[in-house]
Amino acid sequence: MVRIAFFGAGYAGLVSGACFAELGHDVVIRDVVPERIDALRAGKVPFYEPGLDELIAKNAERLTFTLSMEEAVAGSDFLFVAVGTPPTASGDANMSAVWSVIEDLPQDLGAPILVMKSTVPVGTGEKIRAELDRRGLSDVGYASCPEFLAEGTAVRDFMESDRVVVGAFEPAQGEAVAALHDGLDAPVVQMDVPSAEMVKLAANAYLATRISFINEIANVCELVGADVEEVARGMGLDRRIGSRYLRAGIGFGGSCFPKDVSFLKLLAGNSGYNFHLVSSVIEVNELQIRRPVAKVQRHLGSLRGKRVALLGLAFKPDTDDVREAPSRVLAARFLAEGAQVVVWDPVVDAHEFLHGVELAKSAEAALAGADAAVIVTEWPVLRELPWADLRETMRNPLVIDGRNHLDPDTMRAAGYAYEGMGRATSAFAALAETEEPSSNLSR
Ligand SMILES: NC(=O)c1ccc[n+]([C@@H]2O[C@H](COP(=O)([O-])OP(=O)(O)OC[C@H]3O[C@@H](n4cnc5c(N)ncnc54)[C@H](O)[C@@H]3O)[C@@H](O)[C@H]2O)c1
Repeated sequence: MVRIAFFGAGYAGLVSGACFAELGHDVVIRDVVPERIDALRAGKVPFYEPGLDELIAKNAERLTFTLSMEEAVAGSDFLFVAVGTPPTASGDANMSAVWSVIEDLPQDLGAPILVMKSTVPVGTGEKIRAELDRRGLSDVGYASCPEFLAEGTAVRDFMESDRVVVGAFEPAQGEAVAALHDGLDAPVVQMDVPSAEMVKLAANAYLATRISFINEIANVCELVGADVEEVARGMGLDRRIGSRYLRAGIGFGGSCFPKDVSFLKLLAGNSGYNFHLVSSVIEVNELQIRRPVAKVQRHLGSLRGKRVALLGLAFKPDTDDVREAPSRVLAARFLAEGAQVVVWDPVVDAHEFLHGVELAKSAEAALAGADAAVIVTEWPVLRELPWADLRETMRNPLVIDGRNHLDPDTMRAAGYAYEGMGRATSAFAALAETEEPSSNLSR
């Protein structure tokens, strides 16, 4: 049994730490936020991730939590860095938490392997290697092992990984990190450090590209009378294409795609290359998130004084993460148009969501008296609502389905003006598109 230290008890660190405990390793997880460690010691997971509470409880004897750097490193064979790397004002990666871990490492470390799980710009490993050497910590190994889990399905994504990517400067160190994953039925792909760092950015940028691509197809579908749901089904059955990440909607959000795509764009730009495709992916997404505003305006005209219900705040179902969530942009845009905005989400604690927004206790309460509702997150519970009964409670029964989550025929039969994204069957979809009024995006 090896001992693994994790730095960062967030979505990536806590999930992968608990999964390594499930694989039989002894894991100590260090964070710098006392409330987070207190909660974990009390058996409480500080965020919503299905299956994680059970996994932590099941492996309690192999999992410890600490605020102490010394306790984390003592006797640890591997030091996994899983701290946040949020975007800075310039859109580059804020690496301060990563560097604070490196700087806080004690001098008498021995020879563990430092493993980078955080998503970092290509070249980070070389900089950290040089810093470790400069500090006389040449015996400390280094490997990159990017994390590919997705919030909402994180435990399964780790335990049933498609692959594990390990980049190392020394093959033996790469082998040691690869061996940690022995209990997984997944190929381990070993490579050099910069390539492993690039795999993570390229994979997320590719998935984001698929989303922006199908969203543009959806926008064209609305103009030419095609239905993007049918188009995606017909495309996705082609094995060269596949059906995943081909769902049209209001675009991607969350703590990974927006920042990782931006990191790649800026990494390329800072290195002298203009990555046009990735720039377009970002721009398409920024505009896509705002499309429901124009759709509501086409139905209601001026939004001043109109009441708009946003159903779902999390950037996707099965998470409480609202980092870079489309709901934030939509709420701010509707407010800017003078609308009253009421929001509801089944798991997000929305109290600090956005100033000026009303919080509803239930989806039904959000819909009551609303002039329009926007499906922002495709929470399954939204499909189960008694829509036919709820129509009477709305001041105006207009539903803009930003995730193509509801059945258009059922909604129309229940008396709603229903509009999805790229769904030609919409009574309003054939209306010619005018230029987005929101073209004042700062780029
Ligand atoms: N969230 C995901 O789905 C996901 C998936 C793959 C990769 N990643 C990457 O993993 C990294 C972490 O993401 P996250 O979503 O888990 O972030 P997070 O913000 O949820 O968690 C980061 C944690 O690190 C802690 N921290 C900060 N400084 C620390 C220090 N010096 N020592 C120990 N802990 C410290 C914070 O208190 C926080 O609890 C990022 O680089 C992200 O891009 C995230």
